[in-house]
Parts: sequence; C-alpha cells; structure tokens
Amino acid sequence: MGVKHFRQVFDLETSEIEALLARSAVLKQHAKDGFPYRPALGKSLGLLFEKPSTRTRISFEAAMFQLGGNVTFMSSRDLQLKRGEPLKDTARVLARYLDCLVVRTFSQSVVDELAEWSGIPVINGLSDTHHPCQALSDIMTVIEKKGDLKALKIAWVGDGNNVAHSWIQAASRLGFSLTLACPEGYFPDENLLKEAKSVARSPIELTTDPAEAVSGADVINTDVWTSMGQEDEASGRRAVFEPYQVNAELIKKAKPDAVVLHCLPAHRGEEITEEVLEGPQSVVWDQAENKMHLHKALLEHLMGLYSGIT
Ligand code: CP
Ligand code: NVA
Repeated sequence: MGVKHFRQVFDLETSEIEALLARSAVLKQHAKDGFPYRPALGKSLGLLFEKPSTRTRISFEAAMFQLGGNVTFMSSRDLQLKRGEPLKDTARVLARYLDCLVVRTFSQSVVDELAEWSGIPVINGLSDTHHPCQALSDIMTVIEKKGDLKALKIAWVGDGNNVAHSWIQAASRLGFSLTLACPEGYFPDENLLKEAKSVARSPIELTTDPAEAVSGADVINTDVWTSMGQEDEASGRRAVFEPYQVNAELIKKAKPDAVVLHCLPAHRGEEITEEVLEGPQSVVWDQAENKMHLHKALLEHLMGLYSGIT
C-alpha cells in the first residue's frame, strides 16, 4: 500500500474517520489521566507553514510532543523555496529527514504536489480550499457535547470557505445532515458540493437564509468572513455578510441547548458577537483543545504508530 496522506477529508474512508474520532476521545482521556504513551519516540514531524497559525501549529507541536516525537517548524520564508527551489525537490529532501509533514499554504496544488513527491504522509493544515483537520476536530467536539451526529441538525452560517468545504465532505462521509447558509456569490465550490452530495447518505443543503439554516438546530458553526489571503476583499465582504452574523437573536431560533462552534480566530462584532462567543452555548475553547487530541490520533494513524494496544 502507498503512503497515506490527508490532503482533504475525502482521502479517508468512513471507517477510518470513525476510528479516528473514537481514538481521539481515548487519547484525550489518556492525557487527562497522565497516562504515558510515547509511540513516536525517534520520529520527526515537520510543519511547513506559509500562513500564520496559532492553534494548528501549536496543537500539532503539542500532539507530537505528547506522543514522544520531535517537531521541526519551517516558515516557507526561511527555506530555499523562497529562492526558487522547486517544491518537488523540497518534498523529496524533507522526506529523507522527516516522518510526516503538515503543510499550511494557499493553493491546494501545493499540498497535492508535496504529497505526490514526498514519500511520507502529508497532512493539510489548511489551504484555500480545505481545512480537513479542523472539520474532524470540530466533529469530535460535537460528538463530545451532543452524542450521535446522525440525530442532529447542524448548521453552517457564513462563507462557503475552506472549513465549510471540509465540513461538507465530512457530512458526506459520516452520513449526518448539514445545512449551510451562505450569501449569493459566496457559496461553497459547486463541484465539491456536487461530488459530496452524490455519495452522501443524508441531506447536505444550501440556502441563503441564516434563519432557515439555524431553525431547530443543535449545532451552529461559523468562521471568519475574510479568510487568510482575501484581505483585499474585507470591506466588501463585511457588507455582504452582515445578515449572517451569529448573534443572540439568531441563536434563539436554534434549540435552547444548541452549541455554537467557531474554529477561531474570531472577529467579535463581525461573524460572531462577544455575547455569543463568551456565552454559555459557546464551546470554542473545548473545540480548540480537541484539535490537539484529534491530531494525535491522525499522526498515529498516518505514521502507522497505533498497534491497537496502548
Ligand atoms: N483554527 C485554526 O486553524 O486556527 P489557526 O489559524 O490559529 O491555526
Ligand atoms: N477560513 C479561515 C480559517 C482560519 C483557521 C482562513 O482560511 O483564514
């Protein structure tokens, strides 16, 4: 079998995702119990980042540390990539030193090219098109808070962006229903949505009406209106997205015990109000923590570290 990558959620089968989610919860408990588990001793993880990151970077670093391995962080600015060394050469050289590589970049083609040439597992730590690790750790949080995904109404409110794309693929793989409310012109990628819907076992719906998406929902999820790399569009986007703010009035339309997710960083007063972000229905801090536990399970899986015995 070839090297296993995680370039997008669709790289994993349903059974693998289910196993990862279950395993993340076990690894979270191990960490809370102080259970020593160091399967990555002697292994090195590289992080190659072209965009800023707080959570993804530090949670992968902490995850690898907890598994007993080493981490090398590389800003693309500091590598010979910056002076024109081809990606395919960089990929082959890094693979001689490292056991796994996490990439945060602009174009998805960079993730795909590194995966093609590297010979070690490549994980997408966010591209313009996908943020697969985020969707899986969000879903871990939803299961932790709400139980069976298939019994839930889950709403996405805002931009049809990278995180939304990964949620769409996850809904398709895991068979839960998802309603996205996005403004006209900011819908998720048409082909990605079509492909996900064609193999989905539950409805994945798109509307322009946030109230419709949120009505009776168990989970409300949102993200920034302007993603990294879109800074020039920020003021235009603020005007278009204003009706999509997750505020107290909007969340009243959901179930009274609905939880609110945001992958962070949050822009208070834009996509979410201070009141909701800091309110009792917000689960964003647990959501941020769970990135680390999900990443441990993902590293174990892709590097073949988990024998089924811990
Ligand atoms: N949620 C997330 O990916 O955050 P960072 O940009 O801080 O990594
Ligand atoms: N959609 C956001 C997610 C940040 C974690 C971005 O790409 O900037």
